[in-house]
Amino acid sequence: MKPMVSSRCITGLVYASALTFLLFILKLFASVNYIDEYNEDHWNHRSSLFPEHSKHRAAKRRTGVDFKSLLKTNHEPPFCQKGLILLILVTSAPWHIEQRNAIRNTWAKKLGEETSSWQALFLVGQPSEMGISSDILQEHRIFGDILVGNYADSYRNLTLKVMHGLRWAVEHCEPQYILKTDDDCFVNTDRLARFLADYNVVKTGLYVGSLFAEGKRHVIRDPLSKWYVSREDYWEDEYPPYASGIGYVLSLDAATRIMKAAEDVPPVPMEDAYVGILAKEAEITVRSSGRFTKHNVNWRVCNYRYLMVIHNLDIGALKSAQHNMIKARTACSETSEITRWK
Ligand SMILES: *[C@@H]1O[C@H](CO)[C@@H](O)[C@H](O)[C@H]1NC(C)=O
Repeated sequence: MKPMVSSRCITGLVYASALTFLLFILKLFASVNYIDEYNEDHWNHRSSLFPEHSKHRAAKRRTGVDFKSLLKTNHEPPFCQKGLILLILVTSAPWHIEQRNAIRNTWAKKLGEETSSWQALFLVGQPSEMGISSDILQEHRIFGDILVGNYADSYRNLTLKVMHGLRWAVEHCEPQYILKTDDDCFVNTDRLARFLADYNVVKTGLYVGSLFAEGKRHVIRDPLSKWYVSREDYWEDEYPPYASGIGYVLSLDAATRIMKAAEDVPPVPMEDAYVGILAKEAEITVRSSGRFTKHNVNWRVCNYRYLMVIHNLDIGALKSAQHNMIKARTACSETSEITRWK
């Protein structure tokens, strides 16, 4: 009996010391990790007074956009012409079929005399109702201009919609420029593609649109808001300068660098602010241009010689804007062609 007890004792002792050793290793590992974070903060000249900040930076490396699952889709992608000057990505909701048809019949309609190539595509996610899902596929079979993404279509998933569209465009279309806009906007397709081809001198690192003033970029911390963002996902109190989601143009290289940054930076539900965060990370400076306007204020014919994107148009307003755009080709010819963003 006695030797049995002592052998049990020895076994217990072995287990205990193994456990202690394991704990020691774990502790060592944890402290090395801590030193890493500390050094990194110093390296970035950031304050290390806020432990959450280090945590945030550590989280940042792990939780960017999950492109792998986003790009997994069993839907036929739209046809994308290679070598386009401009690809226009229009965020739309599954049930906005009338708005999409109005766009197809106005600014997205080819007038047959374009000298520069452009194409417009709609970005739509997975609708919650099955019926709408089959409607979308039917619509896509007819028009071939919808990129259906593998994400639930909801307001807080708008960022995923834009990331999916941009990533797909960068990989499969490689246009010289991409315009991201919404389905309640008018795009001066007659002029924008021509302007990009003939006058734009900022051929690389281009990110341009309507900027929010300083003091209007607060991060919303109210968990009940649809724009709520936690400190873990974005630490600062203000977003960096960014262009309004009504419309911004990216050159292909800028879009590529922004997509790369998205692999590591946690997404925030404000699509346009997120692109601003990514641009900062990719060291791309956003440009402000008065050619993108958030307000639809009875613009007159000659305004269509320089306005590229106008926000807040219903179906009727899209039609009159189209009318003015076509008129502006011949009217107001005494005003010279615009050659700059500002
Ligand atoms: C966003 O889409 C993902 C993937 O479909 C889904 O799991 C998630 O619930 C969606 N989030 C919201 C807020 O709709």
